[in-house]
Amino acid sequence: MVKLPPARSEGHVSIESVLSLRRSIRSYSKRPLSLNDLSQLLWAAQGINSRDIRRTAPSAGALYPLELYLVAGLTTDLSPGVYRYSSEQHSLHLIKEFDQRLALSRVALNQECIAAAPACFVIAGVYRRTAMKYGKRARRYVQLEAGHASENILLQAVALKLGTVVVGAFDDQGVQRVLDLPTEHEPLLLIPVGFPGGRVGE
Ligand SMILES: Cc1cc2nc3c(=O)[nH]c(=O)nc-3n(C[C@H](O)[C@H](O)[C@H](O)COP(=O)(O)O)c2cc1C
Repeated sequence: MVKLPPARSEGHVSIESVLSLRRSIRSYSKRPLSLNDLSQLLWAAQGINSRDIRRTAPSAGALYPLELYLVAGLTTDLSPGVYRYSSEQHSLHLIKEFDQRLALSRVALNQECIAAAPACFVIAGVYRRTAMKYGKRARRYVQLEAGHASENILLQAVALKLGTVVVGAFDDQGVQRVLDLPTEHEPLLLIPVGFPGGRVGE
């Protein structure tokens, strides 16, 4: 278990400037990501921001069907591997050793941004959690929630001067295989992240 440094709830840039700067970035420099930056991005996506269990992103019925994974490659103070984020503990749990970025890019149409990024977030949905209350509506709600969490990552990344892109083109079962995901954790989005720079694939 890797305890993450606390996330900041204040920053130096306005939401308006973050919105005006957001752009998909697909090439990254070789600069590694710090644990502080990863902590901030994970908290933005699914962190707890209240005394109860509520999070930075809204959730239908507060049922929290999303699971957030980190595929770490080039990071300081964190070994390469696949980690699951715990919102409650604000910590990372290793679920698979070694650098899986190339394997992940292969099951995502060989998109080079995934192999080149120092790390990649994977948002998965567990439909059952939401279907217990909302039945067939759950698929829509869970997918919308992935969008909310994803946009939080994208905007937080801008504030940290990091580049990201949302990747929806991938083989679902391939991603499950590379990350060793339980069958009911269905991958919905990949989000590579890194400092902008270099050429794609460098
Ligand atoms: C649901 C979704 C799936 C996407 N999938 C991919 C993808 O697989 N690969 C990619 O390079 N970009 C992907 N994108 C990023 C879009 O190409 C990008 O947002 C669009 O070109 C607009 O550019 P901008 O984000 O810089 O404004 C995706 C975006 C969304 C919202």
